[in-house]
Amino acid sequence: MTALPKTFHVKSFGCQMNVYDGERMAELLGAQGMTLAAASDADLVVLNTCHIREKAADRAYSDVGRLRRDDGSKPLIALAGCVAQAEGEEAKRRSKMIDLVVGPQAYHRLPEMVAAAASGQRPVDTDMPAISKFDALPTRRRSGPSAFLTVAEGCDKFCTYCVVPYTRGAEISRPAGDILAEACALAGSGAREITLLGQNVNAWSDGSTGLDRLIRDIARIEGVERIRYMTSHPTDMTDALIAAHADVPQLMPYLHLPVQAGSDRILKAMNRSHSVDSYLRTIEKVRLARPDIAISGDFIVGFPGESDADFQATLSIIDEVRYAAAYSFKYSPRPGTPAATMPDQIPAEVMDDRLQRLQAKLAEHSLAFNRATVGKATTILIDRKGRLPGQMIGKTPWLQSVFVETDAVIGDMVDVVTTAALPNSLAGVLATAQAA
Ligand code: 5AD
Ligand code: SF4
Repeated sequence: MTALPKTFHVKSFGCQMNVYDGERMAELLGAQGMTLAAASDADLVVLNTCHIREKAADRAYSDVGRLRRDDGSKPLIALAGCVAQAEGEEAKRRSKMIDLVVGPQAYHRLPEMVAAAASGQRPVDTDMPAISKFDALPTRRRSGPSAFLTVAEGCDKFCTYCVVPYTRGAEISRPAGDILAEACALAGSGAREITLLGQNVNAWSDGSTGLDRLIRDIARIEGVERIRYMTSHPTDMTDALIAAHADVPQLMPYLHLPVQAGSDRILKAMNRSHSVDSYLRTIEKVRLARPDIAISGDFIVGFPGESDADFQATLSIIDEVRYAAAYSFKYSPRPGTPAATMPDQIPAEVMDDRLQRLQAKLAEHSLAFNRATVGKATTILIDRKGRLPGQMIGKTPWLQSVFVETDAVIGDMVDVVTTAALPNSLAGVLATAQAA
């Protein structure tokens, strides 16, 4: 039995959907009168975990262990997110330090679960209720210049390597009205950029219209200057959505469209439901609509059965698409997924070698993309401070980070000219400085 916590800390790992959930949990706890504190002295620490790869999942438990304090005490610990969903009751057996376990579809119940935990119980809620948790959450209050907004959750695609359909459940789209209300609240509290989120965001539908309609409606909200969305599945990339890239000025020229692998044989084993050819045709259409678009992707190396030739095919598709940015991973077998028990699992050293070669190629392309923009004028949205005094960092429409010396503050839109390119960022000067 402990006193009800007065202070809290939420730590999120993994994807942007977790970042969003973490913000909503913080808002919910704040609405209960609790205040934010550092992890090292908060009464309650929420670990909002990721289960996508083994390393991420293991990390959750070592992070729990690290919450023990020098004097032997510990905060109330809530295990949230996808590890909580996947492990449920088991999490309490794996770590005695965990006081409550709450899945991504149940966190609207956090306040009552915290009260139960404070009275000595160890509640677990990994339900995926039909009623929307969103209805039970307080209105958005807090946001920076760039805000996330979850519009769809879950996934019905069942790629054979992926835990998401199990941890996040079936795909559901939030109603358009709720999303627009949340977008208005975000814009009202200072967001100039909204990124629409969903594991399969481009499958969003309200029954009759798709994501393109939603984007057009959000573009009409006063104060929303930039719109992005992620992550998209190649088979849900409709012509209507592609058309929005041609004619909605607020829709940023950036598309995260994971291909995962460049060999049809592997794509089939992954149950990706697209081929190399259909993917490339989609990219071609997107580029026709918006020639300057930055394409980013996700790649998995070492999927079971991946041969040297299959891997070469992945390198080839990278050359063909010329990705501006990418995330790449070694295949990690996840319990309960079909690929985990497939024959021909790839040895660790082969995966290491392939990942290194893949990342070298991806780095070449992102550097080339960044170099091609050097010397050009663009507008950045300042989102954080740089390391040097007077230095700020902001994002271009193509999601590149630009370092610039300016007295502008976070949330300002600043006209710059880029002066130098690195693989993951650019240097720039104020356009006014350049003109002077
Ligand atoms: N192993 C490695 N990478 C994975 N991803 C998803 N599941 C796995 C796995 N089991 C990657 C995919 C996905 C990204 C979010 O994580 O590339 O697009
Ligand atoms: Fe996982 Fe595939 Fe769904 Fe993406 S589309 S969340 S990789 S199952």
